[in-house]
Amino acid sequence: MISLDLSNAKLKEDLSLWQEKVSKAHKDLHDKTGKGNDFVGWVKWPLEYDKEEFARILDVRKRMAGKYDTVLVCGIGGSYLGARAAIEMIRGLYPDDGIEVIFVGNTFSYSYISQVLNHIKNKEIVLNVISKSGTTTETSVSFRIFKHFMEEKYGEDAKNRIYATTDKARGTLKELADKEGYETFVIPDDIGGRYSVFTAVGLLPLALANVDIEALMKGSLDAYNDFNTDDLSKNTAYQYAVARRILDNQGYTAEYFVTYHLQLTMIAEWWKQLFGESEGKEEKGILPTSACFTTDLHSLGQFIQEGRKTEFETILYVDDMGGDIDFPADDQDLDHMNYLAGKKLSWVSEMAFEGTLSAHSDVGNNPNIVIRLKDNSAYSFGYMIYFFFAACGMTCYLLDINPFNQPGVEVYKKKMFNLLGKPE
Ligand code: PA5
Repeated sequence: MISLDLSNAKLKEDLSLWQEKVSKAHKDLHDKTGKGNDFVGWVKWPLEYDKEEFARILDVRKRMAGKYDTVLVCGIGGSYLGARAAIEMIRGLYPDDGIEVIFVGNTFSYSYISQVLNHIKNKEIVLNVISKSGTTTETSVSFRIFKHFMEEKYGEDAKNRIYATTDKARGTLKELADKEGYETFVIPDDIGGRYSVFTAVGLLPLALANVDIEALMKGSLDAYNDFNTDDLSKNTAYQYAVARRILDNQGYTAEYFVTYHLQLTMIAEWWKQLFGESEGKEEKGILPTSACFTTDLHSLGQFIQEGRKTEFETILYVDDMGGDIDFPADDQDLDHMNYLAGKKLSWVSEMAFEGTLSAHSDVGNNPNIVIRLKDNSAYSFGYMIYFFFAACGMTCYLLDINPFNQPGVEVYKKKMFNLLGKPE
């Protein structure tokens, strides 16, 4: 399902030297004895997820089928990125099932918000607001605006088209939802935002977007079983985690997460949040950044090839993204492209990947880690996400960091609230 190739990673240390540390960290993650242990609910979630709530999510999709053409998803950070990453990877950017998914609540951009308001005027809408705390300002601002929009458009029926995903018992959003009569879904106490895509946070928008969430959960379960071993020689998620630590020790301070499809750029955004918010603390951590090749080879390629040598690359290469195309022959060959006639574009992409790997690794001397995934199915998405969860938890524990909090994020909020005059 997933394979890891470290042959171009230029590691100066043998992975096996980390076995003892990995075994301890694995035990800490699974026995809830490590840092931030109140938030390791994600570890066994593929086994223990709430089946009753899962059935309710499927029921919403069934009940609402044919009644909407637009899903508005209102959330930010962990209450946003996972669903968007899944939707773009699995459905592509222009799916033909007549359902459009629009993300709001992730910005104060008034210009974006007013464009969305204008765009959805004549659409049939369901709205899912998602916030664990129930008080995130970007989300609350957008939600009030789109709630008013829904009430004007649907009157009394608006409450049957609005779903709230939040804490099970407390918080502003939970109170509001109960008062307004919205159906609510739960973000479990012991699962933080960026680890929550397998909960209703991801599952409800995905179900509304016609994604096969049963296959997705099966992928996560198979990954849970495959990565539930502390044996470093067998656990590729932990091998990736250790490789990151070795490269960090070798002086590499940034990691490019590279994809080869525009439908995967949101996976990169999700990955950046997962690793950035989990690891970037106590003045430690590897800067997570990203690039989409070959597109960005025409912008960042020069720097990556010959610029300052501080970064390594982790390439997510998906073997089959669907929709392959045969390159056509042309009688006149005015563009001199006939040398590719009859070839598949997937082969062209693969050659671009192999050529770039060699250019960056052999010529540029950049460490390259390659993660290969079979396809872009819901099952593979679920499997891959759990792979990165396990790798992230492990790499943070190896760095002696609590992966599950984000104290630094509060600083901008405090400064902003002072300027906005928010009451204490
Ligand atoms: O990973 C996290 O915990 C954060 O990114 C949160 O998901 C984000 O800040 C949104 O928070 P909330 O769901 O409380 O609105």
